[in-house]
Amino acid sequence: MKLHTFILLAILSTVVLFTGCSTIAFNYTDTDTVMTSSSVTNDSIEKPLEDSDTIQTPDIDSTQDTVAIQIEPSLANVEDAPSDSPSYTEPIDYNAIDILINKQNPLPSDYEPTDLVIPDIKFFFDGEHEKKHMRTEAAQALEQLFEMAKEKNIHLFAVSGYRSYKRQEAIFNRNVKKHGFEKANTFSAQPGQSEHQTGLAMDVSCSEVDYRLTQSFGKTQEGQWIKDNAHSFGFIIRYPKGKETITGYMYEPWHLRYVGKELATQIYESELTMEEFFNDYSNSKSSS
Ligand code: DAL
Ligand code: ZN
Repeated sequence: MKLHTFILLAILSTVVLFTGCSTIAFNYTDTDTVMTSSSVTNDSIEKPLEDSDTIQTPDIDSTQDTVAIQIEPSLANVEDAPSDSPSYTEPIDYNAIDILINKQNPLPSDYEPTDLVIPDIKFFFDGEHEKKHMRTEAAQALEQLFEMAKEKNIHLFAVSGYRSYKRQEAIFNRNVKKHGFEKANTFSAQPGQSEHQTGLAMDVSCSEVDYRLTQSFGKTQEGQWIKDNAHSFGFIIRYPKGKETITGYMYEPWHLRYVGKELATQIYESELTMEEFFNDYSNSKSSS
């Protein structure tokens, strides 16, 4: 009798254990399956959270943590997480030489570079002016560019460098009065959105186009020379032809932006804009 009872109890225990494990295994499998699909679309995100909430075992609670970690970045992609969210935003170093400034990434209104100097180069106008300035590193690089150009019989003239937020505001408002907001915003930056405020940009021209900032400058010897050589001195042609929807501005063969030799060479060789190079652009946003 005792042996029969023992065998019976052993069989019963095995059946109970097998049934219990199957239930837990099913729940895990179900959660994992939904979890994988949850990262694909926003619609499918709610289901696994509801499913996971109903499961109480400690093991599955830790799976739920994994679900939360996976969902948050995909929500950030889908729904445009607030840009000032401290958990996603790195502090921006506005003094960085490779700072990307455009319609989507403006400078603060109180940003002013602290190392502005006047490069020893030819300007097309005389006298002291804020717009003769550039940041020290950019100014030194531009002196070298002008020097080499002169040796090659290329005669460049500097037209417009640093602009304070206030001066950019005045320039933009003047352009809006003359051309209307939409048109003005294709060639003139709103205050805070101009690279000239960084002190890293200089507009250049030549006598053949009467020192004007005109697209025909790109066809002159001077325009061709800077297109082919500016990168060797750390500059890029920031607003190239054919990339207007990406940069947000019309073709400006005269606008030199200093980014340092290494980055300028990489951008030049890739034939990309700064936005594309940093993978930081959107066609739909660029016209805003
Ligand atoms: N012309 C360029 C876009 C500026 O105003 O900064
Ligand atoms: Zn410019």
